[in-house]
Amino acid sequence: MCVVRKHYFINICTLSLVPDFPIYFFLLQMMDYNVPGGKLNRGLSVIDSYQLLQEGRELTEDEIFLASALGWCIEWLQAFFLVLDDIMDGSHTRRGQPCWFRLPKVGMIAVNDGVVLRNHIPRILRKHFREKPYYVDLLDLFNEVEFQTASGQMIDLITTIQGEKDLSKYSLSIHRRIVQYKTAYYSFYLSVACALLMSGEELENHIDVKNLLIEMGIYFQVQDDYLDCYGNPETIGKIGTDIEDFKCSWLVVKALELSNEEQKKILYENYGKADPENVAKVKALYKELDIEGAFADYESKSYEKLTSGIEGHPSKAVQAVLKSFLGKIYKRKK
Ligand code: IPE
Ligand code: MN
Ligand code: MN
Repeated sequence: MCVVRKHYFINICTLSLVPDFPIYFFLLQMMDYNVPGGKLNRGLSVIDSYQLLQEGRELTEDEIFLASALGWCIEWLQAFFLVLDDIMDGSHTRRGQPCWFRLPKVGMIAVNDGVVLRNHIPRILRKHFREKPYYVDLLDLFNEVEFQTASGQMIDLITTIQGEKDLSKYSLSIHRRIVQYKTAYYSFYLSVACALLMSGEELENHIDVKNLLIEMGIYFQVQDDYLDCYGNPETIGKIGTDIEDFKCSWLVVKALELSNEEQKKILYENYGKADPENVAKVKALYKELDIEGAFADYESKSYEKLTSGIEGHPSKAVQAVLKSFLGKIYKRKK
């Protein structure tokens, strides 16, 4: 962990390519607020995965540095998405502090900050990977994953507008499509894909690994939907807004599935309203339907399915990578 923290500062030093001091100062402040405060699961997974793919061989300093640099690129990508996601979702806190755009001195300047955060990725890649045979593949991977995530965010937002007109449009299959795109590629596939490229592998030869990681990413976002309502804000560092925002969350989809006509009416009348009284009614209905129990059931079934999928993979090293990833998120509280 601390070696990775150290490499954050080395990466941020790519900013020294910015010669103008005031620009450097503003960028540093903005990045420091938005990039380092998360769990670092995605970033650390590049190093863990790369290590496991080397099957016990000890990594050199240089390899650890490069894997950390890629890990930080993912954290930069995440910061970019979160800064903009919080504006779009009207969120209040993130990682235990006010969302960046909520700071009076920032406001909508945060939109441009998002662009700058995204733009920093090719700067890091150019600085450390330019001479590598897999440089172009890395650039292409980050572009493609960014496209998938942004597409997911787009269907998330468009579906919400449609749901506001007619809540019965929400279904498990629509939910699945949204979360596969908005979360699974960048949160799960990307780290392992980086580690594979560093190991000299071709990504086309690892479609089975990709599919397993996407399933894991879907499970991870269902957890995120669950924590939005049932997580402790102190622990998850953010205050949930999914009910107020009319989101096509796993919880509301499940509630629709389990409701009788009368209960559906309660949902139709109260879902997607900012008034705490409406939110409380939705939460009371969730309790009546035992949505928490439905989630616990989903969680254990997903774990079993993912584990047997992983154990069916022919490579022991790949199995170890996937199992370590799953172990990090199973029954997570944050
Ligand atoms: C957004 O999903 C995923 C991305 C940032 C691409 P959410 O909107 O559910 O994320 P949180 O709950 O605000 O973190
Ligand atoms: Mn959000
Ligand atoms: Mn969420």
